[in-house]
Amino acid sequence: MEIIICKTKEEASRKAADLVAALLKAKPKAVLGLATGSTPVPLYQALIKDCAAGKISFKQAKSWNLDEYWGLAPTHDQSYRYFMDTNLFDHVDIVKKNTHVLNGLAKDWRKEVKAYEAAIAKAGGIDLQVLGIGSDGHIAFNEPGSSLASRTRLVSLTPQTVKDNSRFFKKAADVPKQALSMGVSSIMEAKRIVLLAFGANKADAVKGAVEGGVSQFCTASALQMHPDCWFFCDAAAAAKLKLKKYYAWRAEEALKAELA
Ligand code: F6R
Repeated sequence: MEIIICKTKEEASRKAADLVAALLKAKPKAVLGLATGSTPVPLYQALIKDCAAGKISFKQAKSWNLDEYWGLAPTHDQSYRYFMDTNLFDHVDIVKKNTHVLNGLAKDWRKEVKAYEAAIAKAGGIDLQVLGIGSDGHIAFNEPGSSLASRTRLVSLTPQTVKDNSRFFKKAADVPKQALSMGVSSIMEAKRIVLLAFGANKADAVKGAVEGGVSQFCTASALQMHPDCWFFCDAAAAAKLKLKKYYAWRAEEALKAELA
């Protein structure tokens, strides 16, 4: 695990964007795993800028998203399909049919998740997975208590996540209580993981994920077992880490070597 701690989320997002950009340059047909929520927005803005400047292209890339609210149509302004279109896909040169988001209105969720996982495997697996982290340490919608062996499936959100996400909806009662979500072990199959964490309300989750024991009660802690995982944090999200100085000491070198 490499922990990159920056003063601001913009700085951290720029560095994370450099890793994504390096992948797209080295492998134009890259398979990206993408996340929604407030956290990846500055990363997507940095990638939109790079694409507009002709530094990177998504023309041959493919993407699969982590999750989708169960019961929301793709046209709903809080669906994750809508989020991805408006925050990234509509502003870069990716071919829309190469972008994939789980269907929250699927007739048979079991068929939907099976086909989703099969399509990722057929594409060669995810080269780089972007992740945020929930205030309870969840990745995708793998809430505390989710099996670390979990695969893509229908899950129930916790009251905390419903509360956290109610800021995007007109009223708390509108937040769906279930979602289709990639599982922890599905996520662990990505060749590289880039997790972003910003703000003081993520400090406990980051502490648990990086320095806690590996446990289904903080599903992000499973990432300690991943061979190529990068955390990009702002100062507030990293505030509770015990080995902060050590991470900072080695991180710059690690990132430089990666981008050389
Ligand atoms: C989103 C997702 C979630 C979020 C997490 C943090 O696709 O999978 O795990 O990354 O809930 O959300 P924000 O970024 O809004 O704090």
